[in-house]
Amino acid sequence: MSTKLGFEIIGTGHYVPGDPVTNDDLARVMDTSDEWIFKRSGIRQRYFAPEGVGASDLALPAAKRAVESAGIELSEIDYVLFATMTPDYIFPGSGALLAAKLGIPGVPALDIRQQCAAMLFGLQMIDGLVQSRAARTILFVGAEAHAGFMPWKDWSVLDPKNGRSATPEDRAAANKHRNLAVLFGDGAGAVVFRATDRDAGLRGTELHSDGRFAHLLYVPGGGFNKRPYWTPEMVSEQLHIPVMDGRELFKFAVTKLPATARALVKRENVALDQIDWFLAHQANRRINEYIREELDVPPEKLPSNIDRFGNTSAGTIPILLDEQWRKGALKRGQLAMFLALGTGVHWGCALFRL
Ligand code: ACO
Repeated sequence: MSTKLGFEIIGTGHYVPGDPVTNDDLARVMDTSDEWIFKRSGIRQRYFAPEGVGASDLALPAAKRAVESAGIELSEIDYVLFATMTPDYIFPGSGALLAAKLGIPGVPALDIRQQCAAMLFGLQMIDGLVQSRAARTILFVGAEAHAGFMPWKDWSVLDPKNGRSATPEDRAAANKHRNLAVLFGDGAGAVVFRATDRDAGLRGTELHSDGRFAHLLYVPGGGFNKRPYWTPEMVSEQLHIPVMDGRELFKFAVTKLPATARALVKRENVALDQIDWFLAHQANRRINEYIREELDVPPEKLPSNIDRFGNTSAGTIPILLDEQWRKGALKRGQLAMFLALGTGVHWGCALFRL
């Protein structure tokens, strides 16, 4: 007889750096406005990691908060799963750096690169680790420091206290990337999962990846298909800044995500209205509104926090989860569906018994 082990959330935490940067602040470095950004995306503000602060640094306080809320010792963590598309270094990954900063060197740390869809793939990994009995108490962290690819040079201009605006030259350079730059923000979310005898954990997933569409959001500069893999010219040509086809990604998300949700509930023999929570990636409020309407989900079941954080890529779903978990909205025994699309392209959904 095969018995599937359950796993459950025992603690959550999140962290964002410094003071929020508003849409009006961004209008000092490029031609944009609060009205345009809010109307098109639902974003009002975001946070940026200061110079010298990387994904593992943002992850540290989030992970500590998650462990503290779980009421366990750090030494009880027997696996770290770290998701980021903006690692501290091109290599090695940030997972082992975080484990060292937490004071738990030696614990296996796995880095995953599914961008905004990382939490869904992470749940599948955690399920595998638990079922194979490789781990029992797993720290999952999603953290991003997108600040390094923002297209303005002088960060002091963002601060309204300085009362300055970018030079016409800098403004023109930033304008080339304004569709991308207004969407992303920095932060980290962490979740501690633990194996349990309770009927909890992953019920099913419907995940997909399609590298034919990697060009919809990618960094053209750098990379080991070049010799050398990095040059000063790449930076002067702004090739370190991701290129994004926002319209195509938007279309991808609003067509694929409702379809995967329907396929998953059909396979798992669950009705959409039996699902208590839809925890969706926050790339654009309009994308989630569309999905909600398509699936006929009441607004209170699909929480949104994009107005305060923007798109924090791999950090997004863990941050959202932490907010909902801490305020007691999510209850043990409830059924949650996670939904996300990330560049790669990776997309899909996961059904999880809390
Ligand atoms: N401020 C003011 N105007 C702008 C800005 C800006 N920040 N950005 C673009 N514009 C202008 C454009 O230049 C264009 O002007 P034009 O009509 O004179 O040429 C106009 O606004 C419309 O631009 P579009 O790019 O067509 O605007 P759209 O309605 O598609 O919205 C947006 C753009 C918000 C980026 C949207 O396409 C989107 O959110 N797409 C999804 C992106 C996404 O999900 N990305 C994350 C992927 S997940 C991951 O893994 C990280």
